[in-house]
Amino acid sequence: MAIQWFPGHMNAAKKKAAEQMADVDVVIEVVDARLPAASCNPLVEELRKFRSKPCLKILNKIDLADPDATAAWVRHFEQDSSVTAYAMTTKKPADVAKVIDKARALAPHRGVPTKPLRMMIMGIPNVGKSTLMNALLKRRVAKVGDEPAVTKTQQKIYLDMNTAIIDTPGLLWPKIEMPSDGLALAASHAIGANALIEEEVATWLAEELLRRYPQLLQARYGFKDIASMDGIAVVEGLAQKRGYRIRGGDWDFEKASHMLLQDYRSGALGRISLETPETRAAALAVFQEE
Ligand code: G4P
Repeated sequence: MAIQWFPGHMNAAKKKAAEQMADVDVVIEVVDARLPAASCNPLVEELRKFRSKPCLKILNKIDLADPDATAAWVRHFEQDSSVTAYAMTTKKPADVAKVIDKARALAPHRGVPTKPLRMMIMGIPNVGKSTLMNALLKRRVAKVGDEPAVTKTQQKIYLDMNTAIIDTPGLLWPKIEMPSDGLALAASHAIGANALIEEEVATWLAEELLRRYPQLLQARYGFKDIASMDGIAVVEGLAQKRGYRIRGGDWDFEKASHMLLQDYRSGALGRISLETPETRAAALAVFQEE
């Protein structure tokens, strides 16, 4: 399995995040609601606990995730009293509108002009941080005037007189704990994958869907005997259903893999979560035993 992550970037990000976190009141951690544990970077937890900062954990993209799994994750995360978990989608302005109030509730001693609430948005790539930031900025009532940049990469942006976001690239690579995390992240587009790996990712995704959501596969592709299929059969079956062939007449596994991933990522297959707190705990237990 050749999915890579980059410790070099990670170390630089860690150092920067540790410095920046000293001056924030609330850490807003954005994760992907379809895979809330695999899309966490444990570093956020480590640093914010070290600095005793509360966390607004945003499970974003709930429009794509299984609502029951999302509800279970919210309960799971809120077992930690320093965390408020908020399931939302940046696609709904009403959801975005609640973010600041939720963050404010975590630091009630801040939020006046002399002591504005300072927030920092963190998370791995592609979970929706920029979209959230842009949506929050659009709602900005009045531009109070951005402070001079403290460093070239850090700037405080005021949403109103009482509320500021430390603008940081916030870039953290996922810590790929288990091989299945790499596959889930690649399937969900948080990390890139070349065509060869895409076939492996799609086959893995097909297996997961057969286990978790066979009815959605059935509904989308109309397979006749889904109970007898494995991941490879699903991808091949999709190629057959769609008439994807390579020259010479064989089924085009690469194109079908791409299509399955697209259908999952766009939500065309339905609302899917690749882990629940229970399946996560079970997978971790097996992984740690090995
Ligand atoms: P980042 O800063 O954390 O890296 O993420 P960014 O905001 O760039 O968002 C990544 C992708 O996720 C974007 O799609 C964005 O439109 C999408 N996105 C953000 N929030 C939501 C949400 O609540 N629901 C859904 N369905 N999508 C959301 P993109 O540019 O098309 O990328 P991709 O999806 O093709 O990877």
